[in-house]
Amino acid sequence: MTTPNMPIKIGKRICKNRITMAPTVKFNAGEDGIVTDFFVRHYALRAKHGCGLVCVEATAVSPEGRLFPSQIGLWNDDQIEGHRKIVEACHPYGVLIIPQLHYGGLGTHPDCGPLTSPTAVLWKKGDREVMAKELTVPEIHRIEQCFIDAAVRAKTAGYDGVQLHGCHSYLINDFASAVNQRTDEYGGSTENRARLGCEIIQGIRKACGEDFIISIRTSGCDPTVEESIGIAEYYVKAGCDYLQISNGIQDVSDLPHDESLPYNRVASLGVRFHEHFKGIVPVSLVNGIRTPQQVYYLLENEMIDTVDLACGLLADPAFSEAILEGKPYVKCYSCKRCAWSDHKRPCPALKKRGNEAWEWN
Ligand SMILES: Cc1cc2nc3c(=O)[nH]c(=O)nc-3n(C[C@H](O)[C@H](O)[C@H](O)COP(=O)(O)O)c2cc1C
Repeated sequence: MTTPNMPIKIGKRICKNRITMAPTVKFNAGEDGIVTDFFVRHYALRAKHGCGLVCVEATAVSPEGRLFPSQIGLWNDDQIEGHRKIVEACHPYGVLIIPQLHYGGLGTHPDCGPLTSPTAVLWKKGDREVMAKELTVPEIHRIEQCFIDAAVRAKTAGYDGVQLHGCHSYLINDFASAVNQRTDEYGGSTENRARLGCEIIQGIRKACGEDFIISIRTSGCDPTVEESIGIAEYYVKAGCDYLQISNGIQDVSDLPHDESLPYNRVASLGVRFHEHFKGIVPVSLVNGIRTPQQVYYLLENEMIDTVDLACGLLADPAFSEAILEGKPYVKCYSCKRCAWSDHKRPCPALKKRGNEAWEWN
């Protein structure tokens, strides 16, 4: 029977337990995208309280692909030092730590660059519609190289690997999804729609070596669950060590789901992928996990390999200890004040937790 405390092999590395910190953007950097001490404290606090793996928030691989002007980056060498400080603050706690590499695509902030897409498409941005620019093949190759260069910088900073942002309507997800109507080698079949992600994975593997974790946070339902599994098979064939499953462009509300289960529709995508990839690569789920009981249910019944926590760990940095050691914790209210707030709307749970959590943020 799997328990949260059990170690797991991810790629060539050992993760000390089954609790992972999901990427959550803070929008707290300057236009230079440089990590400040705020970020170092934020991640060190979560590492200290026992997560097995910390995934640092969406980190831009190129300034024109940012999802917000105050996003952190790894698009130039000046940004390495700040990331090194995060790694050095977290590694003493025995965690694996990886940044999530990101390029906006249809999720690009208009102040940062044009919306880009596999296919020219009208895309809703707030209350207006914007025509996204269709990428040419040389532009695709340039973006792939940005991911690979950012991964090399991540390795220089001391990270254990990287995660590719392949869900939530950002570029890798756009290529994999039904938005992609291309007729060249980047469109059409699942193999072609997975090509952008695969070429990035292969390039990173070649540049960063066999013991560098390459994971992808991929959409579990674009355009269908079956096709998403097919896309992920290509990612794994290309050398991806670890799949984290979230949602993408396709609305999940139509997916059949047994509401009596103690986890939601998005999390159920992870369970479905785990059934498929069991014994091949570890699979992680995310979304709506707010209690230790949910984590025990999923792990003890062998429904998933690792559980990814976002709001639960923003609300209480020691939520992982509640799961691993049965300590008390402050439960996330699911009020969404943390979402896209650039820290101007404080999390009430974090405030209740007090002292260290509140001051360290
Ligand atoms: C404040 C905030 C920032 C987020 N930033 C990211 C991000 O950088 N990358 C990403 O893949 N998902 C991001 N997400 C989504 C979370 O990782 C997670 O998938 C989502 O919050 C659902 O999980 P939860 O119920 O445990 O919070 C963010 C969510 C929140 C609330």
